Amino acid sequence: MYDQIGKIAVLNVKGEIKKENLKKIKEIGKKILKENKHLETILLKKEKIKGRLRKAKYKHLCGKKNFETLYKENNCLFKLNLEKVYFNPRLATNRLFVAQDILTLIKSKKIRSPKILVAFCGVGVYGVVIGKILKKEGLNYKKITMVELNREAIKYAKENVLLNKLENFEIIQGDVKKILPRLKEKFEIILAPRPKLKNDFLKEIFLVSKRGSFIYYFDFVKKEEIGNLKEIFKEKLKNFKKRIKIFKIKKAGEISPSKLRVLIIFKLI
Ligand SMILES: C[S@@+](CC[C@H](N)C(=O)[O-])C[C@H]1O[C@@H](n2cnc3c(N)ncnc32)[C@H](O)[C@@H]1O
Repeated sequence: MYDQIGKIAVLNVKGEIKKENLKKIKEIGKKILKENKHLETILLKKEKIKGRLRKAKYKHLCGKKNFETLYKENNCLFKLNLEKVYFNPRLATNRLFVAQDILTLIKSKKIRSPKILVAFCGVGVYGVVIGKILKKEGLNYKKITMVELNREAIKYAKENVLLNKLENFEIIQGDVKKILPRLKEKFEIILAPRPKLKNDFLKEIFLVSKRGSFIYYFDFVKKEEIGNLKEIFKEKLKNFKKRIKIFKIKKAGEISPSKLRVLIIFKLI
């Protein structure tokens, strides 16, 4: 199985790869390259994403040795370097779902010129898909603020906003834990496609939210917990003394055989 990201194909092989298997994998790579004229580079994803910046390591198998690519998704263009940033093309459907949900929300609740925050923006994928969908529908947003720790990702996020001819973006490099308390403003819509790390960043998210804010929060749960996620999430929020209304809980991907990524959409009331 492989993912196509622009002119790069990435092979995903589970488990440890022995030397004799690597030869076979290279042959598969060469075959893919030969059969798909639009591809230029074949990479092998070496290990799972790691560290705060959630980067993966790749081995170059064949074709042009290049890790930067131009990728099209949801009518948007994205430039990114696979080695330097987090990126997962399989999450394109999540991005479209979130953007369409925000569009419906703005229309149905008649939210005028909202300020939208995307914490953990990576190369700007969520912000750009949302901005593009709102622009297409002729809906205004006051600004879309994006925050990201990885300097390389920030560089691409800025470029991607320009590539998609979008305006009114504020792009901030830094730690969400430090940046959000400094913003001293509240957002109507907050999106947190957060990394699977110990910190849940809820404290910082609440600092930039107000009564009526809609929050799109990604969490990670055990598969058996999915049935009572509402209760588990409400319990998690107990210490914050916030009243919330949960609108939707949606599976947003499998991260291991026993764990899921979920999207929780809730409102502060
Ligand atoms: C799961 S990735 C999501 C990236 C992007 N939203 C996407 O969907 O492609 C999480 C991102 O959070 C960034 N990150 C991790 N810890 C952070 C922090 N404390 N403050 C800001 N960004 C952080 C990582 O560098 C990574 O780009």
